[in-house]
Amino acid sequence: MAKTNPAIDPTQTIESRLQVSPQAEAIFDRSCNDCHSNKTRWPWYSNVGPVSWLVISDVNDARRVMNLSEWGAYDKDKQSRRLRDMCEQVQDGQMPLNIYTQLHPGSKLSAEDKQTLCDWANSERARISSL
Ligand code: HEC
Repeated sequence: MAKTNPAIDPTQTIESRLQVSPQAEAIFDRSCNDCHSNKTRWPWYSNVGPVSWLVISDVNDARRVMNLSEWGAYDKDKQSRRLRDMCEQVQDGQMPLNIYTQLHPGSKLSAEDKQTLCDWANSERARISSL
């Protein structure tokens, strides 16, 4: 399995397609982008034995379901669903994955962070649905 960071087309990123607030951007950067974007900072443990396979396959799966660097590929419905899912997943404590927050303590989201992300996602859903 290969560790890749596909080239980023700046016209396709979520930042170029939606109005991403600085607060939401900071949360993506701290807690999501290592798996859900093409900006993965591959950690040292991604070089080591069986753990590496787990990390690489998580990143591949994560990019497949939602890639913030390739947001432009999503039609309006899919964007809306993904915005809804982001909020649900963080409120339920499903995302970021536990294995990740254990290895990257700074990626844990506070109740306030979750609310910030949900408020942003909900307002963008409303905005794009009215376009
Ligand atoms: C360690 C890697 C990792 C991190 C970090 C991570 N995710 Fe995920 N995420 C995954 C994987 C893997 C899946 C696919 C899970 C599956 O469907 O099996 C996923 C799935 C999702 C989905 C789709 C769930 C569904 O409805 O099918 C959403 C939305 C999501 N993540 C949001 C986020 C958000 C928001 C963050 C940051 C707050 C985040 N993730 C951080 C690995 C990660």
